[in-house]
Amino acid sequence: MAANTALTDEKFQELEQYIDAMPTTKGELIRVLHKAQEIFGYLPKEVQKFVGKKLNVSTSKVFGVVSFYSYFTMTPKGEFNISVCMGTACYVRGADKVLDELKKELQIEVGETTPDGKFSLTSLRCVGACGLAPVVMVGEKVYGRVEANMVKDILLEYK
Ligand code: FES
Repeated sequence: MAANTALTDEKFQELEQYIDAMPTTKGELIRVLHKAQEIFGYLPKEVQKFVGKKLNVSTSKVFGVVSFYSYFTMTPKGEFNISVCMGTACYVRGADKVLDELKKELQIEVGETTPDGKFSLTSLRCVGACGLAPVVMVGEKVYGRVEANMVKDILLEYK
């Protein structure tokens, strides 16, 4: 498991200090959740509960907001997050086949992380590099004109 996913006291303290320093917490749930995700990397139940308590908002409301916005995630990302662009240009050039190959190789679905915490898989809308379609990103690194048979070699770079 990647070390940065741990729910340490220091992280809770950092979040608490951030909230305590706000002039008002009224209507600031989304802002606080953004900060919480920046600190923890994701928003597990424990963090949602903590935020709800501090802001005097019910846990179910917090959960509702977290599930509504696709920006928020309840699963920790892997050490290397792999994003496959599923925008139109990438899709028509076979991004779905690349994605299928990644799922097969990693044995996870989109939105999941491998059990060793190494890789997570996400899909994105157009990343603005349509000339390179289909595009896959591993962390910040961009791979262009990716074909399904290149997936193994790309993954090998990170193993
Ligand atoms: S559609 Fe994939 S980069 Fe634009």
